[in-house]
Amino acid sequence: MNFSLSAIVLTAILATGFLSVSHPKSSPASCDHGRKLHVTPDSSLKIHFRNDFLIGTALNVSEIEEKEPEASRLIAAQFNAITPENIMKCEVIQPGWNEYHFDLADKFVAYGKKHDMFIVGHTLIWHSQLSPFVKNIQSGDSLLLFMTNHINTVAGRYAGKVNSWDVVNEALNEDGTLRNSIFLEKLGPDYIRKAFELAAKAAPGAELYYNDYNIEQPKKRAGVIALVKKLKASGTRIDGIGIQGHWSTKGPSLEDIENSILEYSALGLKVSFTELDLTCLPNPWDLQGAEVSQNFKNSPFMNPYPHGLPDSVQLKLANCYEALFKLFIKHKVKIERITFWGVSDSQSWLNNWPIYGRTNYPLLFDRNYKPKPAFEKVMALKD
Ligand code: XIL
Repeated sequence: MNFSLSAIVLTAILATGFLSVSHPKSSPASCDHGRKLHVTPDSSLKIHFRNDFLIGTALNVSEIEEKEPEASRLIAAQFNAITPENIMKCEVIQPGWNEYHFDLADKFVAYGKKHDMFIVGHTLIWHSQLSPFVKNIQSGDSLLLFMTNHINTVAGRYAGKVNSWDVVNEALNEDGTLRNSIFLEKLGPDYIRKAFELAAKAAPGAELYYNDYNIEQPKKRAGVIALVKKLKASGTRIDGIGIQGHWSTKGPSLEDIENSILEYSALGLKVSFTELDLTCLPNPWDLQGAEVSQNFKNSPFMNPYPHGLPDSVQLKLANCYEALFKLFIKHKVKIERITFWGVSDSQSWLNNWPIYGRTNYPLLFDRNYKPKPAFEKVMALKD
C-alpha cells in the first residue's frame, strides 16, 4: 500500500505536535489535531485493510438516518461493516410483549445494504438495556417464551440480511463463571445453548457470535473457552467470539490479546474485535471492563482534557493503536472484523460512561470527523 509523501510529512509533523494550532477554549472539538481527509485508496481504512479484515463502526440513530452529511461521507469512505449502537437492543426493538419497533432497525439494515456493508445485529440476549416488562417476568416459562419470541421475531425478520448476530452478550463474570442475570436465575445455565439454537433456526445464514468485554483476560477467557466447548459438545452452532475491546492507553497487554486470538481460533471460531475504543481518561475504579450500569461522579481530576488532548497523550494513543493493529495484521487470517465503537470522538459513549459529561478521545476520528495521528499510524502499517 502506497502512502503519499504529503501524508508522511504530515504524519511526522503531527507526531511532533509542530502544527498544533490554538483555538478558543470553549470548543474542545477545535483543539483536536485532525486534518481534512480527501478519500483515496491510501486514506480509507476499509480499502487499506481490504485483504486483511473488515473495518466496522457502530452507528447511532442520527448516522443511521444520515442526518449529518459529513458523518455519512466518512462512514461510507472508511467502513465496510456496521453495528447498531443501541437500536436493536431489547428496550428499543421490543418494548412490550406484543410490541416491536422495527422502523430504525429496518433503516439500519437498508443503510448497510445500500452501502454494501457487512451487517452485524447487536444483540439478542443481554442482561442490560432490557425492556421493563422483561425485568418483571416472574416465571421461567414466561421468560423462555419471551426469549423464543424475541429471537424468532427479531433474528427471523432479518434472516438473509443481517450477516452476523451477537447472540448472547456479556454472560460471564470476571472470574469466568456465569453472570447472575434474570436469564441465569430463571432458566439456568442452559439459556445460552437455547439462545444459540433459536438463533441458528431463525437466521440460518447468519454467523452466530458470543460477545463480551475483558475476555482477553486469562480467567474470563477460560470461562469463554469452557462455554464454547460445552456448546460444541451439545452440537450447538457457534461461529465466532467477539472481543469487545473497550480498552485504554494503559492496557490490556498485547500478550493477553494475542493469546486470546490464538486460543479462540484454536476452537475453530472466528475472532472479531467488536467494540474497539481506547479511553484516554482516568479510570474511576482501576478495573477494566464495560459494565454499563456503573456510573461515577465527574470532576476536573476525572476530566483532565476538556479543551483538547495534549500532544503527549495524542501520541500515546497513536502508538497504542499502532501496536494493536500490528498485532491484528500479524493474525489477520484468524480475525474477521475490527469494529470501532463509534465513528468520531464526539459521539463516543465514553464521553458519558462511566462518568457523565467528560471529553474523551478514544477513536481514530476527532470531533470534526478528521483523522487523528492514530489514524495515520494505523494507515502507515503494511502487511
Ligand atoms: C453502550 C452504548 O454505546 C451506549 O450508548 C448505551 O447507553 C449503553 O450501551 N458493551 C456493549 C454495548 O455490548 O452495547 C454497549 O453500548 C457498550 C458496552
